[in-house]
Amino acid sequence: MPLLPILRFPDPRLKKKAAPVRRIDESIIRLARDMAETMYEAPGVGLAATQVDVHKRVIVIDVSETRDRLFTLINPEIIESAGQQVCEEGCLSVPGIYDKVERAESVVARYLDLAGQEQTVEANGLLAVCLQHEIEHLDGKVFVEHLSQLKQTRIKARLAKQAKISA
Ligand code: NI
Repeated sequence: MPLLPILRFPDPRLKKKAAPVRRIDESIIRLARDMAETMYEAPGVGLAATQVDVHKRVIVIDVSETRDRLFTLINPEIIESAGQQVCEEGCLSVPGIYDKVERAESVVARYLDLAGQEQTVEANGLLAVCLQHEIEHLDGKVFVEHLSQLKQTRIKARLAKQAKISA
């Protein structure tokens, strides 16, 4: 199965707002499977469909050390959040860049699973960070946009340089 190419910041397609999934059909199931494979191969702890240029509300997450606790979330929504934490984040669309972002410490998210059943997940720590980070992707936002303009300019310059070296 081919790995999906991942868009890199500041690609304007990362700014598109993803549309809700209306029907969980074969194409959505295949997308979720390809996204999971892409995330594990990268490797990363989460991936949003936006990052593979599919603008539908689908995310995959696995924050386990054993890499065997895959969450596939369709139309995820944060319905409760509390507290705050500062965590160093990275992103497969911003390779090699890590920086601190403030987020809620705990969240409750509602979503549909691949069988179309409504589920909720209560999360704190890394899983809570990851849920917030990936859901933001679906709304067209990349974590570096939480950083100062100066940092964002530096990050763009660094990524442009990397792209030139690998081209
Ligand atoms: Ni990301």
